[in-house]
This record gives sequence, structure tokens and C-alpha cells, in this order.
Amino acid sequence: MLQLPECLLGHISYEEFLRDYWQKKPLFIKNAIPNFESPIDEHELAGMALEEQVESRLVMEKGPNGENWHLENGPFEESRFSTLPKSHWTLLVQAVDHYVPEVAALMEAFDFIPSWRVDDIMISFAPKEGSVGPHLDYYDVFLLQAQGTRRWQLGGFADDNTPIVEGVPLRILREFDVEEEFVCEPGDLLYLPPQLAHYGVSQTDDCMTWSVGFRAPSADEIVTSLADYIGEKMCEDDRYGDPDLELQSYNSQIGPDAIARVKTLVLEKLNDDETINAWFGRYMTQPKYMDQLIPSEETVSESNLSENLASGAVLNLTEGSRLAFSDTESGFILFADGEGYPIEAQDKDAIMHLCEQKHLTSHELFSPLHKTIVNLTELVNRGTLYLSD
Ligand code: SIN
Ligand code: CO
Repeated sequence: MLQLPECLLGHISYEEFLRDYWQKKPLFIKNAIPNFESPIDEHELAGMALEEQVESRLVMEKGPNGENWHLENGPFEESRFSTLPKSHWTLLVQAVDHYVPEVAALMEAFDFIPSWRVDDIMISFAPKEGSVGPHLDYYDVFLLQAQGTRRWQLGGFADDNTPIVEGVPLRILREFDVEEEFVCEPGDLLYLPPQLAHYGVSQTDDCMTWSVGFRAPSADEIVTSLADYIGEKMCEDDRYGDPDLELQSYNSQIGPDAIARVKTLVLEKLNDDETINAWFGRYMTQPKYMDQLIPSEETVSESNLSENLASGAVLNLTEGSRLAFSDTESGFILFADGEGYPIEAQDKDAIMHLCEQKHLTSHELFSPLHKTIVNLTELVNRGTLYLSD
């Protein structure tokens, strides 16, 4: 069992961290999780990389054909791992928390950040000198040293225009000026804000690093997704209109009057808090991998679920599934794996309990035969929730 400390950030309080470090500057916490022992070893990690549905990568410095950097995407054949060199490679497996509950347990230590900001836990394994090169990521990351030792060198902030090494399958920074250096041992934690250049190199033959990554959609993704969501709700007769049209000097000119009309229409559609709220909750709870949401084998009925709960069964959140809620003047919404469910006031506390604790029993449900049970039944059938004894 993972023993989590009272405060993950040592003598830095969560308030202080959010104010001074989050999205601003790096923080190294020596021995953040005392006596940390990885619940997963490199053989299990390699085993996961054989699976079709698991996203994995192998990065080698000096590839088999003499190239400077080499990238292979999984799934891998078991034999691939017996032909690797002694050093200079890294195996990276994405979303290990979705498959290994003991790894997912670490997420509890990050409850000072909204859960819908979390993306996944990626785990890397490397022998001596293994690294993915100096690079930047566009999201916040907490790097927990799980096993062995890794030297982290940090540079300054970089962006899309920072020169990268040409002709390699990875985005590796061409110039990297070291500003800080940390040697991470098991239990040490390093927080990096987005776009801070970093370069981690394994110092031992058993280096395992866990990356707790956060979700931050790009402006492009936000605008595109919101527009799609709003667009689906529009009807055909809601369109550009110009009853104020005046005679134009140039028949083919698009004038400021036309732009003003279309801008009014766009802003009217976009500038609605209720719609943005309904879309954002759905968007931020979309599963990382849609095909991981597996509908329950047997369809459960509402009465069936009520009976099960009444006789002591527990509803649990499936690993990799995502929940959030919003509570505004226009009502309470449960967001689950990309969908939104309006919840009756009497079941609000129960649903908040489900979102926070990731499980629910009949004790928390005020009236199990109300509309909420319809929503919960749907969530069981979709695969977001599952029943256990
Ligand atoms: C690693 O674990 O080797 C790389 C993690 C990172 O730099 O994002
Ligand atoms: Co990185």
C-alpha cells in the first residue's frame, strides 16, 4: 500500500504552492514521499507495452541505424526488449494509472489541484544514460522518482519558436542552457511548470520516473470544441440576417456593417455562461482514451441498481473514467466521461460524495428511486461506474 504523506510538498503549504509555484516556477521536494517503493516494476511496465490498447514509446539515443535519436511506438513484441542495448534508451508507458489501481492511488496526494485538470500518470523506465533529450512540455508535470536515480537539468522557459534538432522524430531543443540541477532519488518530487525546458538523464540501471501530467487544452482545441458543441444545438432558421441592408457602392465589398452583424451573432452564441459551463464540464471529463470506456457486459436496470445498492453494493468509479460537477444558479450538473447529467437538489450531496470519494453507497443517496438513479444506471451501463459488493 502506498503511504502518502500529510503534505506532499514538505514545508510548503498548498496555498503557498499555488500562489508562488503553480504555472510559474519549478519546485524540488526532497523525500516528498518517504520510503517510497514502486508498486510496479520494469517487467510489469514492459508487459503493459505489449498491449494493443496501451500507449507506449521507446526512445533511443543513437538508434539502430546510427541516427542521433530514434523513436518506436508500441505495442512491442516481447523479443524487442531482449535486443536493447545496455544503456541510452527509455521505455515510456502512458496512463498507467488507468490500469494499475496502486499507481492511481498516488492521485490522492494531488487533491490540491482540481481533479479535472489531471491527465494521467506516465511511467518511464531507463537504464544508465537513458533520456528523451532536452525538451519542453506544454503542461504542468510532477516528476516522482520511483526507483533508481535521475539527474534533472532545468533550463529557462521556451516556446514554439525555440530551435529544435531537425530531422529527428522527437522535439529536442537544439540549445539548452542549464540553470538548475537536481539529482532525484526514490521519493523525491520535482514540479515543472509548462514550457520550462528540462532534461532528465538516468544515472542508474533501474531508473523509473512517474510523470503526473495535467490537462490544459490549447485555445485552438477550446474554440473548436465549444463551437462544435454550440453548433449542434443550433437550428437551421437561426442564421445571418441583414434587414438593415443599405445600398453598397461596390457590390462585391464585405463592409464593416456585415462584419458587425456576424460578430453580434457569434458573440451572442458564445457569450453565455450556462452554455460554456455545460460544454466545459463535458470537455474536461472526456476520457483520455475513448475506447477505454467499455459498456458493462450485462445491462443493468434502474430497479436492479436500486436493489443492489439497498442490499449493500457500492458504486465505484472505473479507472480512467472522469467525473466533475458544477453547481450554479441554473442547477447542479454531474459531468461524467464527456456527458452532462442534471441532478435533483436532494441528490446533490450524494453526487458530490461520488465525485470526491469516487464511490457511493445507498447511505448517501437520499431517494434512490428518483431521477438520479436513472443517470447512475446509465453510467453503469456506459462503463463509467461499476458495482462491487
Ligand atoms: C522521462 O521520464 O524520461 C521523461 C519525462 C519528461 O521529461 O517529461
Ligand atoms: Co518532459
